Parts: sequence; structure tokens; C-alpha cells
Amino acid sequence: MTAEPDIDSIAADLRYQLAARLTDAGHLRSPQWRAAVEAVPRHEFVRRFYRETDAPGLTTWTPVTPELSGVKEWLRQAYTDETLITQFDGREIDWTDPQPISGAHPTSSSTLPALVVDMLEELQVHDGMNVMEIGTGTGYSTALMCRRLGAGQVTSIETDPDVADRARDALDRCGYAPRLIIGDGLTGDPEGAPYDRTIATCGVRRIPRSWVRQTRPGGIVLATLRGWMRSLGLVRLAIGHDERAEGRFVSGDPSFMIARQQDAPESLGMIPAPDDGASRSTPYGPELLIQPGSGFMAQLAMSAARFFSMPADDGTPCTYVLNTTDDSFAVLTPKSDDEWNVRQGGPVALWDVFENALDIWRAADSPMPTEFGITVTAEDQRVWLGSPDGPSWSLPTRAETGGHPA
Ligand SMILES: C[S@@+](CC[C@H](N)C(=O)[O-])C[C@H]1O[C@@H](n2cnc3c(N)ncnc32)[C@H](O)[C@@H]1O
Repeated sequence: MTAEPDIDSIAADLRYQLAARLTDAGHLRSPQWRAAVEAVPRHEFVRRFYRETDAPGLTTWTPVTPELSGVKEWLRQAYTDETLITQFDGREIDWTDPQPISGAHPTSSSTLPALVVDMLEELQVHDGMNVMEIGTGTGYSTALMCRRLGAGQVTSIETDPDVADRARDALDRCGYAPRLIIGDGLTGDPEGAPYDRTIATCGVRRIPRSWVRQTRPGGIVLATLRGWMRSLGLVRLAIGHDERAEGRFVSGDPSFMIARQQDAPESLGMIPAPDDGASRSTPYGPELLIQPGSGFMAQLAMSAARFFSMPADDGTPCTYVLNTTDDSFAVLTPKSDDEWNVRQGGPVALWDVFENALDIWRAADSPMPTEFGITVTAEDQRVWLGSPDGPSWSLPTRAETGGHPA
């Protein structure tokens, strides 16, 4: 007869190992957050999950549960420094017979622990502070904050009721009872305000006004800005008076799933006809849309755009950049080894706008996202290079994010 694995002691060992790895790699920097990682049982928040499979081609996720993988392997994976997916396409997973999944869109997860603790460290909390979290997800990051600050100091908002229910159960099992709200976190939590700190674990296209209003002057809002082409990065904003906030990008990397209410429309819009628009040559090709620094500038300069590549009827490779707010478009086709043809139409010459931004960025020695900052006022949100009076680009307006109260 084989003995049942002792889940608690195996999990405790794995937690200590995870905390040590996160400390060695420089993610965990304070003893208080390290103690939280050592104490909070992540496996309680990811009893069943999907994990990305390392295979070339289409991204595929495979299910991991104690039943499918064995208790020890499930625990081992629960304490890896990986994002563990718990929902796709906003629908609950049928766990009666879980199969590998591909071509789906993850909509809830337990975020990569390294990123969770990086953000918690960036939040610069002190004992006695209260925190509003947007995007409860599995509840793991909520639990870390409960351990660090006390559950009475933590409010977490989750838009998906099924996800929120699971998080509540997991937090309950661990003995944490923070204030949990099911609703759209973009409107924040007026009842619990003011908060010392606001942290979002879903990406936003602009900083919701409610977060600035509901965070105390002198407080911090930490959130990932993103668009429909890519993430811009993590910003830390110091809250001032009169709905003013300012801060810098602390990192250009994290790519959080976008707040559901700001997701891209399903339809890509009208594809321009072959003779629409005016053509010219450009040395700037579509690969610049996906390279790290130039891709960041593309997202900044064309804040409402999306792009995709598709061959024309005659087989010519074409990249379409389409604005979602008007009929502006740019279509790129190769001309020679280092030259492209760009055909533009609509009210905004998108590729001209991108090239201008790229020229400014190159003239400044191709700075990293951490050289950029953001100023938020009641009227406007601008991302600037270097300092608030440097070159700047507007984030989408409130009307462009779907007229949301945020
Ligand atoms: C990456 S997961 C959160 C990870 C979580 N903090 C953890 O540690 O497990 C992002 C979550 O944000 C939620 N979300 C998306 N839009 C939201 C919104 N407008 N308000 C509140 N939650 C939202 C998603 O449903 C998802 O559960």
C-alpha cells in the first residue's frame, strides 16, 4: 500500500523553494513579501488549471489536476514560476473530461509569481495601508496582500462572477476574508474609498478616472497600460490633487489580459479596396510593429489601431493597419529588400504618424519604456518621453474606450 502524499508539508517545501528562487532572481526584495509567499498556499488557488505546452506552432494548453497528473506533480506545477490559466474565452472549463486546448483566448489566470511579487514590491505598501485590487482572478495575489496587510485592509474586484466565487472559496479555505466585489473594476469602489494603493492585474487602455479619484493624494496607482496591438508596460502613478496623477513606466514587459470591457471589437472592420488611398515608398516595414522598442512606439502613436497580415488575391504579402475609431488605414506591401510600399487612406495618415513617432524615438537613442512617463489630468492622459514637457502622445479618450465611465 502506498502512503498518501502529505500535501501540506510538500506544499510548504515548494513554497519555500519558490520564495528562495524569487529572492535570488531579485523579484522578492523585502522580508514581508517573502514571508507572504512562504505562507500563502498557491495550490489552494489553482486546484485545476491549464498550462502552456512548449511546442512549436499553435499555442496549446494542457490540463493539470491532482487526478490527471498525480498529487505531487500537480503541486510541483502549482509552485512553478508560471502563469496558470483557469478560464478561456470567458467560459467556465468543463472539468469532467478536460482536453488540451488550442486557439483559445485566456481570460483568467494565476499570474506568473515573479510578476505578482514585482508588482507588490513596486506598490510600496506600509503597515496599516488599505489596498484596492482590480482583477481578483484566482485570489492568489489577494491572499498575499491579506497576509501582508491584514484582510480588513484589502478590497478586490472581479468582473466574472464564476471566477470571483472560486476566489472567494479559496480565500475562505486559507482563512482570509477580504472585501470581495463582483463588478466592473474600472468603476472602482466608491464605498471603500479613499485607498492608499490601487493595483490592477488586468490591462487598461487608459487609467480609469475612478482609480485616480478613489486613491488618496500621495497614494499610488499601479497598472499595466496596453492597447490592441500590444502592452505598453507597467506604470506607477503618484496621485496628486484635482484628479492629477503622474508617474513613470517601471517596466515595459508585463502583458496582462486586457480589462474585459475594453477588449477589441470582434470585427476587424472594413478591409480597404485595392485602389483605396494614396501610395508612397517607405523604409519602415511591418516588422517594426512587433519589435520591442518600435512596437511600443507603434502602440503609442496609433493608439486605436490593430494590424494583421494576409496575402492579397495575387499572393502579395500585405500587412493591414486599421483604425477602430475611423476609416483610417495603412497597407504595407514589400517593394525591394529594404523598401516598402505604404498605401494610406482615411482621416489619419497612420503610417505618417507612426514614422514621426519613430523618428523622435530614434533621435533620442531608442530609449527603453522606462524612459517614458505619463501625466493624467481630468481632461487628458499623455505618455511623454523624458519629462512631462518632452514629446508626448495621447492615450485613447474616454469616448474611444467605449464611452465607459472610467
Ligand atoms: C490575470 S487575471 C488576475 C490574476 C490574479 N490577480 C491572481 O493572482 O490570480 C485578470 C483578471 O482580471 C479580471 N478582469 C478583467 N476585466 C476586469 C474588470 N473590468 N474588473 C475586474 N476584473 C476584471 C479577469 O476576469 C481576470 O480574472
